[in-house]
Amino acid sequence: MAIQAPEGTRDLLPDEALFWTRFKETAAEVFGRYGYVLVETPVIEQTELFVRGIGEATDVVSKEMFTALSGENLKRLLEGGTVKAKSRLSLRPEGTAGVVRAVVQHDLVPQGAAPAKLMYAGPMFRAERPQKGRQRQFNQVGVECLGAEAPSIDAEAIIMLMRFFEKVGIPRASMRLLVNSMGCETCRPAYRDLVRAYMDEHAGELCETCLTRAEVNPLRAFDCKNPGCAAVMEDAPKITDHLCDDCKAHYAEVLGLLEGAGVAYEEDPKLVRGLDYYTRTVFEVQVTDGLGSQNAIGGGGRYDKLAEEVGGRSTPGLGFALGYERCLMALEAAGMELPRAQRCDLFVACVDDTVRAQAFALVQECRDAGYRCEMDHQGRSLKSQFKLADKLGAARVAVLGPDEVAAGKVTVRDMGTHDEVLVSITDLVSELGSALL
Ligand code: HAM
Repeated sequence: MAIQAPEGTRDLLPDEALFWTRFKETAAEVFGRYGYVLVETPVIEQTELFVRGIGEATDVVSKEMFTALSGENLKRLLEGGTVKAKSRLSLRPEGTAGVVRAVVQHDLVPQGAAPAKLMYAGPMFRAERPQKGRQRQFNQVGVECLGAEAPSIDAEAIIMLMRFFEKVGIPRASMRLLVNSMGCETCRPAYRDLVRAYMDEHAGELCETCLTRAEVNPLRAFDCKNPGCAAVMEDAPKITDHLCDDCKAHYAEVLGLLEGAGVAYEEDPKLVRGLDYYTRTVFEVQVTDGLGSQNAIGGGGRYDKLAEEVGGRSTPGLGFALGYERCLMALEAAGMELPRAQRCDLFVACVDDTVRAQAFALVQECRDAGYRCEMDHQGRSLKSQFKLADKLGAARVAVLGPDEVAAGKVTVRDMGTHDEVLVSITDLVSELGSALL
């Protein structure tokens, strides 16, 4: 059998690759208005970065990372040897840790400097069980703002995310914006103990995984899909009842700014997100149509301790990422059709083989002038050249035959209206750009 793409990955064929490019351009345009500029970081990082940044006990790090080893190191391991920490690499499961690593490494936020507002777009890798809306390689567009603690940064990022979703065409009525605060190192430890004590009281009703979670990271139990655990966690103590005064004020200001901007949200005290770096504000956007259980199209939050976790100086941060494939599914559920990758402005058709050299030269001239131009390379009949032109989405077809070449003219047909005009070969390039064509 022919080799297939690995499970949980998919090809972006031309129409979709075009849409992905436009999607990224729209993001750059919208986020650019808020001061975000593009960065690109490697798709592989030291495994240690994710262990320290995202958290060893998270599903993402403990179960879902793809580890990459050079052939030499793999051989060494298989022979019972060891591999240096810096040679242990993983494919990035998300973008935040890498961007924060780059900010620290290149000192992009020197003390007292304006915040660094960075955006990125590209593939992420998680070895999850593939299902609808859940892949092993998927694309994210994300932003990270480092160096500012103010609630206005949180609010503007959330507003910007909603504006982007609306701009690409996801109906507002099909989106739910969930918001919560995770507290900080002052208030969260006591809250975590409260949840642990509550879980201990309900140990008999919880699944095995949640019993382990109760020890290691009890807040993860809020994400458990087991109906019994979900019912227990429904009545668990709520973080928003246990925030310290600073976190309470920060959260209230974020919510106030969202209200002021007319952005509807729902508070969800059970929203804990799957990554350990979050402090204070967290948020997620879910869609009601087209996605089933994997319905989060984007999410993020504040991570004021992450820069220190990866070895930098204390630098507050906030960001989000959105999943391109899930957005596409939400758009398709809303009735969007992919745009067709238009590959051709002009197709030059040959009446017979004697004019091939002239056609070749003409095609080249048009391309040099900036037009997408194509001709047949397989000796097709004139009729099937028209079919090919149609398949390529050609806007126009120039028909070249011995008579045309002798007269120095070419017939140009508009494939939309079927109107034909006779144009001088020497004028074709300039006519292509004119209203006539
Ligand atoms: P996340 O919630 O893990 O956050 O992922 C963000 C989005 O990526 C999700 O809402 C979803 O749309 C998409 N996504 C995640 N996993 C998959 C998958 N297996 N298949 C398809 N799509 C997926 C983060 O990654 C954080 N780095 C966000 C962030 C940035 N927080 C602060 N800054």
